[in-house]
Parts: sequence; structure tokens; C-alpha cells
Amino acid sequence: MKVIVTKSYDETCTVIAEMIRDLIARKPDAKLGLATGGTPVPIYQKLIQMNREGQIDFSQVHTVNLDEYCGIPGTHEQSYRYFMDSNLFDHINIPKANTFVANGMGDFEANAQELEQKVREGGPADFQLLGIGNNGHIAFNEASDHLISVAHVENLTESTINANARFFEKKEDVPTRAITMGMGDILAAKTVVLAATGLAKVPAIKGLIMDDVITTQNPSTLLKLHENAVVVIDKELADAVGYQG
Ligand code: GLP
Repeated sequence: MKVIVTKSYDETCTVIAEMIRDLIARKPDAKLGLATGGTPVPIYQKLIQMNREGQIDFSQVHTVNLDEYCGIPGTHEQSYRYFMDSNLFDHINIPKANTFVANGMGDFEANAQELEQKVREGGPADFQLLGIGNNGHIAFNEASDHLISVAHVENLTESTINANARFFEKKEDVPTRAITMGMGDILAAKTVVLAATGLAKVPAIKGLIMDDVITTQNPSTLLKLHENAVVVIDKELADAVGYQG
């Protein structure tokens, strides 16, 4: 696992957007695994800008998103389909048919199976973008005594519901379940890049970069098993976890 420390979160986002730009230049039909949450938003803004400037052509790119809430439709403002459309897809030249976000309505188990199929279709993702939850969760693979390797329906923890409540009118509106890629799906990607910023992430990032322990209680630590995993954090977060390089 490689750790990159940047001067600022803006630089983190530039570094990651440039990795994606360079990948697509090498492989115009790249398959990207994408993430939601506050963290990737500026990365997506940079990708939109690069697309406008003609630096990236998304016309042959395929994307699969990590997860989706159960019980809200893609038209709901807090659904991850809506998030991806409004923060990225509606502003770049990617055919919508090339983008996949699990369906959060109907038969959740069947929708999880459909996600698994999309993860496998056309082979592993070339690049998987990740954020990290305050408790170390990746996608919606929650800290637990066991983790699941394939796409599945997950019960969200109190910590995750509380953290995501900021996006909803009230905490009770936050869905309590989600469809998520499993840890095996995520680790199958050729390159996995995790971005983190902010002091809320200190305990999770400490577990990820400061020792060699792998624990299901911090799902991000499974990235230590990946040959091509990159963690990108800014100096403020690196200093807060005591990372010296
Ligand atoms: C959600 C998403 C995760 C994301 C996490 C952190 O739970 N399912 O993929 O990493 O939030 O989000 P943020 O970047 O807003 O801190």
C-alpha cells in the first residue's frame, strides 16, 4: 500500500483526477469504480473541468458505483444515482447507459446480485475510487466481526447513519439499509485509490496506515492486502495521525 501526502485537500483531488485522466488517456474504454460522499465531490468537479477542456474523453468509459441506499428511488435527491448524475455524469460526455448505480427500490437481494454481475462484467475495474467512513467502512461494508466478499444488502450502523444524517432533513429519514459491493469486489480492482480528509477520519486512517494489522472492525485495513492500493491524504490529516512517511 502506498501513501501519498499532499499539501491540501485540493491537491489530493488534483492528484486523483490526474490519475483518472492518465488512465483514460492510456485506456479510453477504462472501467471505473466510483464512490459517493462529500470527499469525492471536488474530484468530480476537476474531472468535469478536464472534460470541458478536452483533456478527458468519457465516451467509451464504463462506471460501476460502490453502493446505493435501500428504499429510495434514483430520483430522490439523496440517492446515490441522483448524486452521481448531478455531481458528475450530467456534466461529462459519458453515455448514461455506460453508468451503473444499483437500484435501491424493489427486490434488494436481486438488485445486489445485479450489482455483483456488473462488477464482474467485462472484467475487473481498472480503477476503484474510495472514500472512508469515520468507523473505517468502505462503500457500505460496515465495521463488524465479519465482512462479506460479494455484493449484498447491509444494515447500516448507528455511526454511519449519524454521519450521513447531515444530508437528510432528519435522522429518521436516513435509510437503515444499503446495497453495497463486497470487500472482494473492491479488492478485485486493478488499482484502488482511497481519499480522505478531515479530523473525523483520524481513527480510521490510523488503523489503515500506521500499522500492519488487518481487522474487520476497520474494513479499510483489508486494502493492506492489495498490491496496488494508494491512500491519498493531506498534511493536516497525516500530521493528526502522526504519519511521518
Ligand atoms: C458513505 C459512503 C462511503 C463514503 C462514506 C464517507 O457512507 N457509502 O462510500 O466513503 O460515506 O463519506 P464522506 O466522504 O462524506 O465522509
